Amino acid sequence: MDLGRRDLFRLGFAGGAVILTGGLRTSRADNLPSSPNTTPFLYELLPGRGIPPVAQPVPPFPTLPDPGDTINPDKSMPFHVSGPRVVPNNTEFYKIHIKAVEHSFHPHLPDNLLWGYDGSIPGPTIVSRTGTPQLVRFFNDLPAVDPVGIGEPIDAIHRHGGFQAPEDDGYPLDTFSRGESRDYFFPNTLEDGLTQNEHATLWYHDHSIDITAQNVYRGLAGFYPNFNQLDTGNESDLPPALGLPSGQYDIGLVLQDRQFDKSGFLVYDSFDHNGFLGDKFLVNGLIQPYLNVARRKYRFRFLNGSSARFYNLVLSNGRPFIAIATDSHLLEHPVTVSNFTIAPAERVDVIVDFSGASIHDEIFLVNRQGQTDGRKPDKLVSPGTPLLKFIVNRDAADPSRVPATLLPVTVGPQQLLPQVKVQRRFKFERSHGAWVINGEFFDENRINAKPREGEPEVWILESGGGWAHPVHIHLTEFFILSRNGVKPPPLEQGRKDTVVIGSSFGSVAILISFTGFTGRYVFHCHNIEHEDMRMMGQFEVQP
Ligand code: C2O
Ligand code: CU
Repeated sequence: MDLGRRDLFRLGFAGGAVILTGGLRTSRADNLPSSPNTTPFLYELLPGRGIPPVAQPVPPFPTLPDPGDTINPDKSMPFHVSGPRVVPNNTEFYKIHIKAVEHSFHPHLPDNLLWGYDGSIPGPTIVSRTGTPQLVRFFNDLPAVDPVGIGEPIDAIHRHGGFQAPEDDGYPLDTFSRGESRDYFFPNTLEDGLTQNEHATLWYHDHSIDITAQNVYRGLAGFYPNFNQLDTGNESDLPPALGLPSGQYDIGLVLQDRQFDKSGFLVYDSFDHNGFLGDKFLVNGLIQPYLNVARRKYRFRFLNGSSARFYNLVLSNGRPFIAIATDSHLLEHPVTVSNFTIAPAERVDVIVDFSGASIHDEIFLVNRQGQTDGRKPDKLVSPGTPLLKFIVNRDAADPSRVPATLLPVTVGPQQLLPQVKVQRRFKFERSHGAWVINGEFFDENRINAKPREGEPEVWILESGGGWAHPVHIHLTEFFILSRNGVKPPPLEQGRKDTVVIGSSFGSVAILISFTGFTGRYVFHCHNIEHEDMRMMGQFEVQP
């Protein structure tokens, strides 16, 4: 493997960190001074502050000549196919500028210079609809001089949970630099019963090799929800449309943690390879905000956008969540839970019904997950940390429904298991003070697996030792067949693209297939520091 300067730097530090920390239980991040105190629930989640704008299509633009067609800065890998890009007639076009933006996390902290898609934190929500392809041109407009020093102005965009060609998947070495742009084509393929499709909450984020954690920490993440003929995005649509809460009652909530110095400026510990933890809790870029809600049903799309922090969510009024989707897929049936754990990169879409509340009620979304270092979550704690306060302040009509059947599984384990001929085993472990898969660091010149398109396989994902690894596999929505030899809990019985293993989570067997595309994709730990330390492999789907 051809190690660049940055790789050597990071791997060198990995080795050093072992000596530095010796047998200590804590990582360096834990030793950073606490962030300044911040009074909770001062900022309201509002359109334009906390509720990101919805990206709007622009008139079609020519895809050639594209001055932004790029090759990698080191000229090594000309990934980007430059040339006329033929897109279907019904393609929607978007332009998104990645730029620096002054952002207020909290009224008592100074503005921080972040990086945002279109300058928005989180990025603008890009809404997709099955059957309508999209071409999104991302411009890297990051400034030449950066006083903050977190992240690097190099981008690769990954639509997490999406089915897109390898060159549109944000391959970590397929990056574009300041002053360049890059087109990503998302086919949003119509369903044919065999292909896997986007069905719920996707997200897009930076995926540049070795610096993903810092670039995401700096602000580069946004929602990318999908609508389709079942989940139409209009709660008044009649069956077979599901009628799930929609519009202003359908809200993405990304949970993240951050750390600030005593002056209120963002800090990031690049020496911490366990996984970075911050002591401030953000919802949609705001520290412990509040949200005014009506007495009716809401759909909340929870996304864990943190590097290493796990959350266990519960409502302070003891009311349940009705889960309707996990990761990018609707569940077959709604699942009622009093609380749930969400690992980095996972999504859980839930219905919360405020209709039984009284006007002026205050209800808290609480994180009960204890966690003191990035390697794994600890036990649940009580009372936990409130992340968000709901204030019930009005009545509103509620035509929305939560049908007993959401999305029937027509091609699932029953149909696929008999076809399985290949089983693979991937062990995620710590080695030489860093993280490896089957004993090896990511190497762009090594293919770890060559599955055939459309031929289902069983993969065993396991982990040694006391580390938790949320494993994400591109280009697939797999089924978890078993966790530690037994049927997984209800929230893990739908299609998934991220699954946590290791520590108390143990190992899983998943039923996986790759459809619609051939070529090279990555899979990796989504503790992003582990990913950046090259706990990543790649598979090449064979025709
Ligand atoms: Cu959310 Cu490969 O990433
Ligand atoms: Cu990991």
